[in-house]
Amino acid sequence: MFLSYYANLLKRVDASLKEFIHKNAKGIDTNEFLQYYYDEIEKFLFSGGKRIRPILMITAGTAVKPDVNMEGIIKASLSLELLHNASLIHDDIMDNAETRRGETVFHKVLGQYSKQHYNSTIQNHADFGVAMGILGGDFVYNMAYKAIHVNDFPSESVLKASLVFNEGFFKIVRGVIIETDFMGKNNISENEYLEMIYGKTAALFETATVMGAILANATESQIENLRYFGKYVGIAFQIVDDIIGTFGNTKKTGKPTDSDIKEGKKTLLLIKALEIANESEREILERVAGNRNASSEDVESVREIFETTDALKYSKEKAEEQYQLSLSYLEKADPELDIKFKTYLKDIAEKGVNRDT
Ligand code: IPE
Ligand code: IPE
Ligand code: MG
Repeated sequence: MFLSYYANLLKRVDASLKEFIHKNAKGIDTNEFLQYYYDEIEKFLFSGGKRIRPILMITAGTAVKPDVNMEGIIKASLSLELLHNASLIHDDIMDNAETRRGETVFHKVLGQYSKQHYNSTIQNHADFGVAMGILGGDFVYNMAYKAIHVNDFPSESVLKASLVFNEGFFKIVRGVIIETDFMGKNNISENEYLEMIYGKTAALFETATVMGAILANATESQIENLRYFGKYVGIAFQIVDDIIGTFGNTKKTGKPTDSDIKEGKKTLLLIKALEIANESEREILERVAGNRNASSEDVESVREIFETTDALKYSKEKAEEQYQLSLSYLEKADPELDIKFKTYLKDIAEKGVNRDT
């Protein structure tokens, strides 16, 4: 039941996204490079992606109002998927990533284009790629803003939703600034980590549930409880992302499993392991985490320390705790959420926590 519900919504979101990109970019430009560029943006947008944020938004709206305007809420939910994808394009520049969703990251595709088309004496290909990646993120952010302004809802609700969107965007940027500052630090606490992932990841989940609720004309109680539901789902989702980022399967995640360690990312795994490690374990963690030239044996020894210190177990338990916490808010909304779609919200939360992609 849930699987077909999710698959069906995913299809509708994708169809709407395709139409939106054609209408707002590809279809209105004839410049040859721009046509190529939009094609690459489109390829990136459709290179995979679970579409969990728009699906969460649509389902939150439907849980408040089962007969909500589906066409309208799907169109508005594209804003979240676009914001997410824009942040990934920028994130891959900042994280010096190679692959995303099993493909070469956007800015490196553009770097390859430069190599194939331009003379390296006048152009540094990697710089061209990064410049095009910054612009790619900006371009998709702009598309995200355009997507909110649907005329299927009262303009007052759309305005409210767009202010929530703005606030979510602010929180993401704030979270990523905090994370970037963490890179050079070594004594990050669990609470600092939780605040950071609330910004970089959970804020958009919260934005999703709140925007869905607003467009469905929810009560204050429904909005606030859906807000906390989204927030804690998002926190659990990021803790799991950290776990599968190191212990997952590249074929499934589409991302390497050594890069968080090599980049020295302050994941809950690393924070907890540093807290518990004995002297020799700490020596290894400090030598390998953040060393881009670390060997695969070194990376494996860090994985082992994550296991022996029980940092892995702790992180799994923390994700489960945050997931359970998220569910408690679904029961508090007044009036009650529609039972069928409330169950789907639970299923989406569970999908976010029990996942390998
Ligand atoms: C990846 O998000 C980045 C995080 C915020 C954890 P997703 O796991 O939702 O990425 P896609 O869109 O499904 O590829
Ligand atoms: C992605 O964070 C969060 C944002 C883009 C804001 P990560 O760097 O942790 O996610 P992945 O592992 O690259 O998908
Ligand atoms: Mg990253």
